[in-house]
Amino acid sequence: MSTEQPQDTKITVLKNGPLYVEGNFVLFDADGQEIPVSGKAALCRCGVSNKKPFCDGTHAKVDFKA
Ligand code: FES
Repeated sequence: MSTEQPQDTKITVLKNGPLYVEGNFVLFDADGQEIPVSGKAALCRCGVSNKKPFCDGTHAKVDFKA
């Protein structure tokens, strides 16, 4: 029997960058299909990522400011 406790979910807004999600969560796409993640994900907040919903670092190239 596991003694691990459920982990809270933490979402951090990174300065001029993505939303960093970590903990116990499930991610779904716009069609309701689950997107596999392993307890952490950087979600694009700038809208220009080429691998949405994930951040691919493009925010830095376009000088995203939030
Ligand atoms: S926030 Fe990083 S590519 Fe959009």
